[in-house]
Amino acid sequence: MTVHIEGDAGRVVGPVPRRLFGSFVEHMGRSVYTGLYEPGHSTADDRGFRGDVLELVRELGPTVLRYPGGNFVSSYRWEDGVGPAETRPVRLDPAWHSVESNRFGLHEFVAWAEAAGAEVMYAVNLGTRGIQEAADVLEYCNHAGGTELSERRRANGADRPFGFKLWCLGNEMDGPWQIGHKTAEEYGRLAAETARLMRMIDPDVELVVAGSSHADMPTFGSWERTVLRHTAELVDHISLHAYYQELHGDTDSYLASGAALDRYIRTTAGVIDATLAELGLDKKIGISVDEWNVWDLRRWNEVDQAELAAGGWRQHPRIIEDTYTVTDAVVVGSLLSSLLRNVDRVTMANQAQLVNVIAPIRSEPGGPAWRQTTFHPFRQVAALAGGASLRLAVEGDRLRTAQHGEVDLVDAAATVEDSGRGAVFLTNRATASPTEVRIRLRGARFGVYAAETLTTPDGETRHTANTADAQPVRPVPLPGAVATSDPGGTTITVTLPPLSWTVLQLTPQAGPHA
Ligand code: AHR
Repeated sequence: MTVHIEGDAGRVVGPVPRRLFGSFVEHMGRSVYTGLYEPGHSTADDRGFRGDVLELVRELGPTVLRYPGGNFVSSYRWEDGVGPAETRPVRLDPAWHSVESNRFGLHEFVAWAEAAGAEVMYAVNLGTRGIQEAADVLEYCNHAGGTELSERRRANGADRPFGFKLWCLGNEMDGPWQIGHKTAEEYGRLAAETARLMRMIDPDVELVVAGSSHADMPTFGSWERTVLRHTAELVDHISLHAYYQELHGDTDSYLASGAALDRYIRTTAGVIDATLAELGLDKKIGISVDEWNVWDLRRWNEVDQAELAAGGWRQHPRIIEDTYTVTDAVVVGSLLSSLLRNVDRVTMANQAQLVNVIAPIRSEPGGPAWRQTTFHPFRQVAALAGGASLRLAVEGDRLRTAQHGEVDLVDAAATVEDSGRGAVFLTNRATASPTEVRIRLRGARFGVYAAETLTTPDGETRHTANTADAQPVRPVPLPGAVATSDPGGTTITVTLPPLSWTVLQLTPQAGPHA
């Protein structure tokens, strides 16, 4: 198998936004409680923040954290999570058939996000609540002082406003499963009026209106059009949610998820452009991929939901704690590459979620925290993809898939920084054989500083996972990546192991340019 990849340091898709490497913390399952927050844990600080989890989060490097949901937010009363923790109400969380203690709330999350070094992206409840509550939480968070709400924040210990910039106008309002689900017309009107008031209170906010929950929604396309007709003048981004899974042993289609995400993004971009043209609006609306990941939804439907029903109303039940394999990590890598390939339209993205709930980080109550297989591609891309994303052409062997048609056998993305540093991200979708790759990058001279691959470890299978006891799946050095540069550019050759995710770090080389 052979693949040729061509790029030019001067032909870029666009700058890589740092917000592309976001994550998501929802009050769901054990994401917050016994995830990032566990008073009494041996590593917890005096605020109850688990030190072991925080250390892994810092290593992972998410730049922005969406909070507090997710489906949870659509019946959440933000006021429940402020003020003295002992007096906060205990409530039902109908979205996840759970009991919410509210011991962890807004101020705790702000402190935790600051410790993690990430920006907060706050979602308001447009399910059971509306314009007034959205305005209230914004005033509480961002107004300096002198009003009842801002003074309440100050009395609760935050003298200075939180100054959140990013606000989501509800969550997945197109989904019939959503509490307070609405038609596109109903949601579009509500989102527009909410946005208008929020902008009056704080003109500096960036607003994300809710787009489709997945590409197979029967309303995909028409939802965006209707919602944007109401909100286009008032919002900055529209969301898109995308989860992928391996169905019926169809590994090839699963491995093509990155190409499916490309298509989903480009179709959404087309609807945005068409609607802006229809409205005669000369502005840009970005795509916020504010929930994306791999998620075994059959397990949620068949195992977790039954478990929830049998267990009754409980605090932080164990739900959707998917254990990820080598294959899952490779797919996550290709989804990250898709985001990089589409930075001309994608303004931010959040892997869903961060800890325990379909997460790169797992933790046990009173026990250890560890890196799932999917931790690694996220950490590498967040650390190494900078500057601008290059426009690449891939030629060579292709893979026929049942669900997503024919896709490149090797999925590729590359970035180059002003400093001359670069990175190439490669997914080998061939499951049975290695693939030889020749990459020609014109207009810059590079050397290969490091090459690492994540693939099936010796003696293991593609289903091997990392667990609390052992974490055998991680990137290892890949020998044999060679760069030769000439006045016209650089040629890199590398052989990718079967079913693998590979990262090449490039350093600038001195010498004449063409
Ligand atoms: O991330 C888990 C759930 O998936 C979120 O709460 C919801 O928005 C989506 O359907």
